[in-house]
Amino acid sequence: MANLKLKQINKIYDNGFHAVKDFNLKIEEGEFIVLVGPSGCGKTTVLRMIAGLETITDGELYINDSFMNHMAAKDRDIAMVFQSYALFPHLTVYENISFPLKINKLSREEIHNKVKEVSEILEIESLLNKKPSTLSGGQKQRVALGRAIVRKPKIFLMDEPLSNLDSNLRTQMRIEISKLHSKLDATFIYVTHDQIEAMTMGTRIVIMEDGKIQQIGTPQEVYENPNNIFVARFIGSPSMNILDGIVVVNEEEIQLKVSIGEDNEDSAKYIKIPKTQQDVLKINNYINKRIKIGLRPESIEVSADWDFNTFKAYVTMVERVGLDTYIYFDIHGDNCCVKTTNINNDIKIGDYISFYIDKQKTYLFDYETELRII
Ligand SMILES: Nc1ncnc2c1ncn2[C@@H]1O[C@H](COP(=O)(O)OP(=O)(O)OP(=O)(O)O)[C@@H](O)[C@H]1O
Ligand SMILES: [Mg+2]
Repeated sequence: MANLKLKQINKIYDNGFHAVKDFNLKIEEGEFIVLVGPSGCGKTTVLRMIAGLETITDGELYINDSFMNHMAAKDRDIAMVFQSYALFPHLTVYENISFPLKINKLSREEIHNKVKEVSEILEIESLLNKKPSTLSGGQKQRVALGRAIVRKPKIFLMDEPLSNLDSNLRTQMRIEISKLHSKLDATFIYVTHDQIEAMTMGTRIVIMEDGKIQQIGTPQEVYENPNNIFVARFIGSPSMNILDGIVVVNEEEIQLKVSIGEDNEDSAKYIKIPKTQQDVLKINNYINKRIKIGLRPESIEVSADWDFNTFKAYVTMVERVGLDTYIYFDIHGDNCCVKTTNINNDIKIGDYISFYIDKQKTYLFDYETELRII
């Protein structure tokens, strides 16, 4: 096992593009770290710098407290699994898996024992004599994993290893990889742009945007306490709704005024918020200022009645997924979503629905910086 320290790492490519900016991360032994973020945010670049396949422009990389910036890739004791399985097509599964051992000049018997052990872990014993072209995507991916784990490296790097698989197989392999992590004494660093993979597999996740870390935390921490609107919307599916509002004093307490539909006083609604949020808004001078309000689709409740406290909206789309129904509607041109578990509803496009907002579950963000206030 190994711990890693990435200190103030920057990557500027030869063409001047600044792909990774001031990246700081400490990884403990045996962690399963997931780097997640939209396409082009720098995930692969970080992984390749750890592997030694890309130079570090500035900053320091330590593995087990040794300075690694200039260590050759082959001497880092790291295995990397890519999105494309990169198997040798002319070699059998057995030969593919044993390839790194042959290079290290292990004896025939040692190789045999290790391939046997790995193929048992991955349940691919029956595939050992086959050529990659005759395997399914999931089987190929397992062989690629086998070839990576057979040398028992201290660190595994995986770059979107499941993105070529269909969704059922992806779910299955997600579980396999998590199991593999608990079986092997190794540190895993896993890259994906899929927040569900990140949330289900990572012991901690690192959310990146535009070369910068936006937040580091356990899946639960980043879901419950996002630092900013980017993280709030990236984690959770469907995404958190963000409404524009104004902090006002109404009924002798601090409330959030939101206008829905036409931009006039009549359509304004007031959202009550807990006392702790009221206090923070007051202390930080937010009264009469604009604010962004975050609401998860699961903290909005569809209501059967219309009354003074309910919001009314025009339904633009309905998705029924298993026991859940997602109802989409527009608020000032922004797409909003409510998740309801009532399977017996017959809500359809073109209907008006009314809904309540669970005031305990509002997230408040600064209008300009988009940083979380509380
Ligand atoms: N060799 C290179 N030269 C110049 N720019 C590069 C090079 N490699 C990558 N980039 C740029 O650096 C940025 C980060 O690339 P990177 O491959 O790390 O992104 P990523 O987060 O892995 O994206 P994806 O999810 O699409 O794989 C991108 O804007 C990319 O165009
Ligand atoms: Mg990538």
